[in-house]
Amino acid sequence: MVKVAPSVLTADFTYLGDTVRMLDKAGADWIHCDIMDGVYVPNMSFGWPMIRAFRKITDKPLDVHLMISDPLRYIEEFAGAGADIITIHPESPSSVHLHRVVTKIRACGKKAGVALNPATSLDVLDYIYDDIDLLLVMSVNPGFGGQSFIPAIMKKIEDAAGRISRRGLKIEIEVDGGVSVKNAADIRSAGATVLVGGHAVVDAEDPAEAIRILKGAESFT
Ligand code: DX5
Ligand code: ZN
Repeated sequence: MVKVAPSVLTADFTYLGDTVRMLDKAGADWIHCDIMDGVYVPNMSFGWPMIRAFRKITDKPLDVHLMISDPLRYIEEFAGAGADIITIHPESPSSVHLHRVVTKIRACGKKAGVALNPATSLDVLDYIYDDIDLLLVMSVNPGFGGQSFIPAIMKKIEDAAGRISRRGLKIEIEVDGGVSVKNAADIRSAGATVLVGGHAVVDAEDPAEAIRILKGAESFT
């Protein structure tokens, strides 16, 4: 069954700790933490002190999505704060040396992810498949929660799944942006193994039910 990683970006920041505890109890597999620096993306969120705070209140894997222009500089901070998975964008200036960045994440004992913006080709991964644990397919332009899923990305998820299975690799395919209870089944069929859910989970009347539906467990409820 696919995993669900609710994004706390959508939460009321006054109650972030309560939201993390709620998502943990509601059945989240991972907690997706969106880190934005106001430079790489036109929005700011929070930094590694928040990851350290989350680490104290949940044992769920912290899935840290770095939307910052110099991820290389801060990998040790996020690793030390308790991130389990660190995902970076190859489009960011310091990730021009993509192999160096993902190698550093693994050297810190963490799982390494690469996030691709909607217009970025999968070809960028061709020579680093052995060095990554996760591919994050952005299905919106990064920066904000609550946007609509870009339809063309469905094909990109299928292509990614094909490339990974042809190589016989076990790399998670995480889909991030505009995932909803309406499009989740198609995203799962396309080959996603992890669904991020911001608005669809955190703003749901019943987040536990929303997580079950995203996971495709309708028939078990
Ligand atoms: C967008 C972030 C997403 C976002 C998801 O830049 O990376 O993780 O918070 O939120 P929804 O699911 O509402 O699109
Ligand atoms: Zn994200």
